[in-house]
Amino acid sequence: MTSLTINPLPTPLGGTLVNGILERDPQEFTALVALELSARQYADLELIATGVYSPLTGFLGQADYLSVIEQMRLADGTPWSVPITLGVSLEDSERLNGLIALRFEGEIVGTLEISEKYKPDKASEAREVYRTEDAAHPGVAALMDSGDLNLAGEVKLLKLSRGDYPEHHYTPLETREIFAARGWKTVVAFQTRNPIHRAHEYLHKVALEQVDGLFLNPLVGSTKSDDVPAHVRVKAYETLLEHYYPQERVLFGVYPAAMRYAGPREAILHALSRRNYGCTHFIVGRDHAGVGNYYGTYDAQEIFNAFSSAELGIEILKFEHTFYCKKCGQLVSSRTCPHGKEHHLLMSGTQVREKLRAGDNLPLEFTRPEVAEVLRAAYSS
Ligand code: ADX
Repeated sequence: MTSLTINPLPTPLGGTLVNGILERDPQEFTALVALELSARQYADLELIATGVYSPLTGFLGQADYLSVIEQMRLADGTPWSVPITLGVSLEDSERLNGLIALRFEGEIVGTLEISEKYKPDKASEAREVYRTEDAAHPGVAALMDSGDLNLAGEVKLLKLSRGDYPEHHYTPLETREIFAARGWKTVVAFQTRNPIHRAHEYLHKVALEQVDGLFLNPLVGSTKSDDVPAHVRVKAYETLLEHYYPQERVLFGVYPAAMRYAGPREAILHALSRRNYGCTHFIVGRDHAGVGNYYGTYDAQEIFNAFSSAELGIEILKFEHTFYCKKCGQLVSSRTCPHGKEHHLLMSGTQVREKLRAGDNLPLEFTRPEVAEVLRAAYSS
């Protein structure tokens, strides 16, 4: 795999940015035996090949897989929190050997040089990575649904497809170039899978008081079926940015990964990926990447204590639960507001979705009116 050394923004994890894009014609690979990828697997292929998952050059082999589950590190000690694996059926595993073609939606999109086949320990993976074996957890359900054998080995992407949002789709090489061209020495990244609300905006703007630029990097890969669809969220982000943000201090680029809902473990994956995009800071607020009641409100902040800041290579900006206080007339947290709960406006994602489905408007203290209108229009159609 060719590698590129980047200066002067933070080094990618492992020191070099992985580049596994071949720039080759799919026709050249039609003679190879092929495997059809799921949307999640295709997203992982792209994330590996574009260097978002540096230092990974392929799907994990067994030594790395076990080490990630047990130690939150690759076998060589590099921090890594969520196994990136390619699960296949036993039948597929038997017919696939050596160099194979990877297809997505019928097209050849990449290759895999199979170096190893092994049986995942799904129960232990669920317990350690998701902290539960409950099949009602969407990440655990996806894990249990995945094939019974993992194929490991180096992958290549034939060409970069910029997906559904080509105007917002950047590789780490490109974001690094943009950050450098804008003269940003410090860049805070923000992960989200929800429509931006005012607490998000507050976190961004507090951070922007300290750092040069914001990389707004919403996840647009597969999410659970009741999350707000990505195209609606993208419209909401565009609208909010247009009306409320200093354009020259924000880069809006999508994060093509699937959501795993692994809470604390996923927060680490999210932070390391953003380091690879060239960011110096990463926001972690309340219940980052959580779902239901599987994780404590601040578990995704505390898990970072397992690593030194030098090995993480990205600074974590931790935020308390933020909400609107009617008495203060602004966004606050328990660190800044002296008033009682009766003055506070708190809405869960579930409550937001229920209101939208009922055709109700979201309160202006919760969402900017332009964003509320985008959401209302999407749900009423
Ligand atoms: S996530 O699954 O991508 O984490 P979400 O889009 O809700 O979900 O959150 C994006 C980021 O904002 C996470 O770091 C989360 O902790 C933080 N966040 C969301 N809402 C709040 C809030 N009200 N107060 C503090 N942090 C928040």
